[in-house]
Order: sequence, then C-alpha cells, then structure tokens
Amino acid sequence: MSLSRIAVLTSGGDAPGMNAAIRAVVRMGNHRGIDVLGVEDGYQGLLNGRIVPIAPGQSHWVEGIERQGGTILGTARSDAFRSDQGQLAALIQLDRHNIEALVVIGGEGSSRGAQKLHQRGFPVVVIPASIDNDVGGTAVAIGVDTAVNTALDAIDRLKDTATAFHRAFIVEVMGRDSGWLALQAGVAAGVEMVLVPEVSFDIETVVARMKETRAMGKTHFVLVTAEGIHPSATAIHDLIRPRQDEIGFESRLTILGHIQRGGSPTAFDRLLATQLAARAVDELMEERAGTLIGFRNMRTITTPLSEAIAEPHAFSEEMYRMAQILAG
Ligand code: F6P
Repeated sequence: MSLSRIAVLTSGGDAPGMNAAIRAVVRMGNHRGIDVLGVEDGYQGLLNGRIVPIAPGQSHWVEGIERQGGTILGTARSDAFRSDQGQLAALIQLDRHNIEALVVIGGEGSSRGAQKLHQRGFPVVVIPASIDNDVGGTAVAIGVDTAVNTALDAIDRLKDTATAFHRAFIVEVMGRDSGWLALQAGVAAGVEMVLVPEVSFDIETVVARMKETRAMGKTHFVLVTAEGIHPSATAIHDLIRPRQDEIGFESRLTILGHIQRGGSPTAFDRLLATQLAARAVDELMEERAGTLIGFRNMRTITTPLSEAIAEPHAFSEEMYRMAQILAG
C-alpha cells in the first residue's frame, strides 16, 4: 500500500522498551517515505485529537529515546474508548488528521482496543508491550526482560538481609493475573518458594515449606509471590507472623510495586522493540493490518488480532515444576 501518513500510540501500563519501539516506527516509517505522527496518552488522547505531527526528516525528535524508560508519548487507561461513542470519536480524529494506519504499542487491553478499530475497518497493528507477559500471539512482550531483571535485583538484595537476620521475606511482584514475572524472577534468584495465580495453594503448604527449610538448617526463606494470588502476600504475612515460634522464621513483607515498570530497558527489550516495530511498518506497507506482531523462536511473527486476544496468557508449567525442585 502506498502509505503516506501513519500514527503511533502507547497505551495501558507503560513498559521499558516502549520508547525504543516508538523510535523504530518513526525511523523505519520515515525511511519508507511515511510521515509518522504521535498520539499523546493512548486511546484517550486519540479520541480527544491529541495528535503530534512529526514531519519526515525530523526523526531527531526520537534521538536517544531508546534508553529511556516510560513512554515519551504518555499513556492512559481509557474508559471512554471502550464505548461506541469513544471509538467513533477516535475514528473521526484519525480521519481529520488524514491518518491512514495506526500502530498501537501496549498490552492485552490495548490489543482489544485495536481490535475494535480494526473491526470498524481502520488499518491497525499491535506491538505487544507489558511487563505482565499476558499478551497472546507472542512468547514475550516488550518490557518483560527489564522488569524481571529489576525484580531480580531487588530479590537478591532482600536475600542478603534475610540471610544476615535469619529471616523470612515475602516479596510480592507485579503481573496482574499472570505469574510470569514472579516465576522468572524467583527461579533466577534461587528462592525457596514461588506462588503464582495459575496454581492454587493452601497456607499450610507455605508453613510446611518454611518449617522444612528451617529444619534443613537454612538461614533464610524467600517466598516470591505474584500480585494476583489468593490469599494475597499481605494476607499470608498476617497469617504466618503470629506463628513465628512454631515456623522458626521471623518474617518481613516487601511489595515491589511500580519500580518494576520503570528504568532503562535492557538490550534484549531494546532489540525486541526495534525488530517488532520494523516488522509493524513492513506489515502496514504490505496491507496486512489487523495483526499483532509477536516474537517466537527468535523471529518476528504475526497473528490476527482476534486469535491473539483469544490466546490464554503464557505460563510455563515446566518452569514452575523446576522452581519447586531447585528450591532445595
Ligand atoms: O499491566 C501492568 C501493571 O503494572 C500490572 O502488573 C499491575 O497490576 C498494573 O499494571 C498496575 O496498574 P496501575 O499502574 O494503573 O496501578
């Protein structure tokens, strides 16, 4: 397709590497003779017409952003865009700015939003970016690697103080309903236990594991939990704290929270973002819209948005079993 004007937006939870994707969309687009416009604050900015022009040859606008966390375009979770009225307002703005296609950089909710525009006949492609790794159509989303490394660094530090004080630490990591981040960071940190929403558990299993660890003579117990588990990390801590004499460990609770979303992206995330963005521009040029650009077996792939949205989020049972064996 002879495209001359496209737009790019970031939506939902920001993820390290989103800026590297914006940069690559702008540079690859300009290289193919396309004007790339930026939409501020995701779908909310789109329906409000907050669209920033970036003329060809002005791609210095994105100079150096590949190393910055967050997103220079800003992001939002838009309730208004979920309605027919919101989507029609967005289409009016796209038409008013003569935009022929849209690149959406975001997670699961953003893919659903993109699918709505696609169903209404507007050409759109999605580049998956979410620290939760809960987006279908890809083995890994932009931001996951950086977030795992951030969580790992924090857990390593907590392990030091846990060992020094002979304590137990419960560390809650992000991930919404996905245990991916918890499992990856927990296995990499060599912790004693990992709890994820995909596998149900009972508080007495946690207590038994702590007692076993004590009996083995270990001087620390680190439990990494995903934020989506039930009971929550806070509830587990409240339940085990009064039982410290029986269990053999005094405990502390750390909720890592939003620090996992920030920071400079790792090399992996920058390279992933760059490859997915380059493929996104190619797909639009070839008139293959309505897809999610994913990454599997070290290659970019495309999946129709309807299929990507229907795919259950990634969870590795093998990795979960390995975590249990390696915990010692
Ligand atoms: O989707 C990314 C994420 O960081 C989740 O891990 C978390 O549950 C959620 O966003 C937090 O959202 P907010 O920043 O709106 O509090």
